[in-house]
Amino acid sequence: MFFKNQKQFYGRRKGRKISSKNFKLVKDFSHRFYLQDDQIFQLELRGYNQNILEIGFGNGDNLVNMSLKQPNNLFFGCDAYYNGCAKLLKQIVNKNIENIKIWPDDIHLIITKFKINFFDLILILQPDPWPKNKHKKRRLIQQKFLDDLNKILKSEGKLIISTDHNVMKSWVLEQLHVRKDFLWIKNGYNYKNIKPKWVINTRYVNKALEDKKTVNWFFFKKN
Ligand SMILES: C[S@@+](CC[C@H](N)C(=O)[O-])C[C@H]1O[C@@H](n2cnc3c(N)ncnc32)[C@H](O)[C@@H]1O
Repeated sequence: MFFKNQKQFYGRRKGRKISSKNFKLVKDFSHRFYLQDDQIFQLELRGYNQNILEIGFGNGDNLVNMSLKQPNNLFFGCDAYYNGCAKLLKQIVNKNIENIKIWPDDIHLIITKFKINFFDLILILQPDPWPKNKHKKRRLIQQKFLDDLNKILKSEGKLIISTDHNVMKSWVLEQLHVRKDFLWIKNGYNYKNIKPKWVINTRYVNKALEDKKTVNWFFFKKN
């Protein structure tokens, strides 16, 4: 499943050598928690209330926290960083979590395979900013990607994006401003850079706060 198509993914696939313990963990448990692409279209709620997707979960701490606090919802996490996926898998196994499924690869490979109107919520926390103009095509949030997100969101489903980077902040607003199919919700969530209580500070949010940067939170609703 790994490394089969890196055309649209520009980040790191692997970091430090994965420990033999984590390697064994992936070998033993990935079949239970890592999704195969031919399973995506068949996914059903099966007793869960909501489907929630976090794209680029990093080390997965927020997903773990949400899944433990919301046992009646089903969580999907996607990250192409192999070591981060192994870290999340370790937490899932150690904490006996049942309601997280992982796509350990580029989101572009599966985004069109989910059923239409499937997700209640999609989170993209601290996407890579790729600040140089010449790299803007590498940014995750692009018009075609927003078309795909819109399709898989339910009517009135939410898209939450956070960023501490000014280039990404302008980019998010620029990309979403032109869209009639997403409404920027400011009043409902009292837009003042307020993080929802049920989202924890991720590694990159913590780093930004330590560096005294403002983390911007954007809430959009499928129109
Ligand atoms: C800046 S990090 C943020 C990680 C985490 N959300 C946090 O706030 O700490 C961006 C993450 O997005 C992942 N990512 C970037 N592009 C991706 C793609 N096309 N598909 C899946 N994951 C992606 C990277 O591997 C990385 O882990």
